Amino acid sequence: MIPKTWKEFRETISDNAVRNNIPISGQFELTARCNLRCKMCYVCRAANDQAAISRELTAVEWINLAREAQKAGMLYLLLTGGEVFIRPDFQEIYEEMLKLGLRITIYTNATLITPEIAQWLGRFPPAAMEVTIYGASAQTYQKVSGDPDGFSQTLRGIDLLAAQGINLKLRTTVISDNAADHDQLVKLAEDRDLLLQYVLYISPRRGVLSGVKDSLRLSPQEITQYEIKASQTFARIVSKMKEKYDLPPNALADQTKQRNNLVSPHYPFKCNAGRSAFWVTWFGAMTPCGTMAEPATEPLRTGFANAWKELTALCAAIPLCSECSQCSVREVCWTCPARLKSETGHFDRPASYLCEWAKLRNIYF
Ligand SMILES: C[S@@+](CC[C@H](N)C(=O)[O-])C[C@H]1O[C@@H](n2cnc3c(N)ncnc32)[C@H](O)[C@@H]1O
Repeated sequence: MIPKTWKEFRETISDNAVRNNIPISGQFELTARCNLRCKMCYVCRAANDQAAISRELTAVEWINLAREAQKAGMLYLLLTGGEVFIRPDFQEIYEEMLKLGLRITIYTNATLITPEIAQWLGRFPPAAMEVTIYGASAQTYQKVSGDPDGFSQTLRGIDLLAAQGINLKLRTTVISDNAADHDQLVKLAEDRDLLLQYVLYISPRRGVLSGVKDSLRLSPQEITQYEIKASQTFARIVSKMKEKYDLPPNALADQTKQRNNLVSPHYPFKCNAGRSAFWVTWFGAMTPCGTMAEPATEPLRTGFANAWKELTALCAAIPLCSECSQCSVREVCWTCPARLKSETGHFDRPASYLCEWAKLRNIYF
């Protein structure tokens, strides 16, 4: 079938990549360092952490890796951190990757965006930028990130980027310290005509099995309540946007739900991790996704193609959680091997936080 729309075209490419294990979607974590110190962050190192600086890949290493990945089929690339704008060589890295013709998305907290950086991005725009907004006041930023100025700096960054016509989205990562800011965050996004997305599941720090402090993330009951409110808001904003921009009825639909059935029931992940998507950590390990420390391969030592091949085999061998596979609320559960491993230390043991949340989601969603 010949695709008729851009969406169909993207889906055809994506399906083909999954079937043939082509790594079309890459995520490069350029640094672990950040100017904010968010208490829930899975990767956050201090801005001047010398030990982290000495282990980070150089600009040349990142660029060479992108070239190799592109040869193997990478089309989409997410640049994230840490905070990418903390790297003095970010401009060089980004421009070289853009020259490869990749469709680049950047994740940022936007606090380091200056008028000059915004203008430069306006000249060489990424496909999209997603700005995480950690709260709707200086007080909330202080509590979440340790920096009260972060709030005004983020708003300034968002407005500078928007003025350059950058394709922007907002996202917020919900923890107990910022949950009460929901309505103000929505207003802030609506005032700027921007879509607000939510990161609802807070994972433990990558590779550290210490759980997440109960006081840090919302309980399954609280997060379900938040999710109900957020989904109502999302539906309202989407319908407003459809009307305003005359979008077709299926625009801005929930992509995850639509795409879930592509991956076989025997493959442990619901998403495309380890089939057509991969992550490279700030020190050069290739993993299926950003919250997983293992399985990991070494693209700088073995070459990208070998590291990818090895990773796909390791992912396919991850044991399925049989309790999860047979669970009656599996359809609405956020379970995946990455989450089970970081919650329980095992790929195949159910995680009580996710189980409780799924039981509630089954009632409301
Ligand atoms: C680690 S940040 C890096 C990119 C950039 N500095 C930013 O603020 O968006 C990427 C995203 O991960 C989210 N995040 C941080 N810690 C998380 C955790 N433990 N679980 C889930 N998401 C988390 C952040 O809120 C942000 O949206």
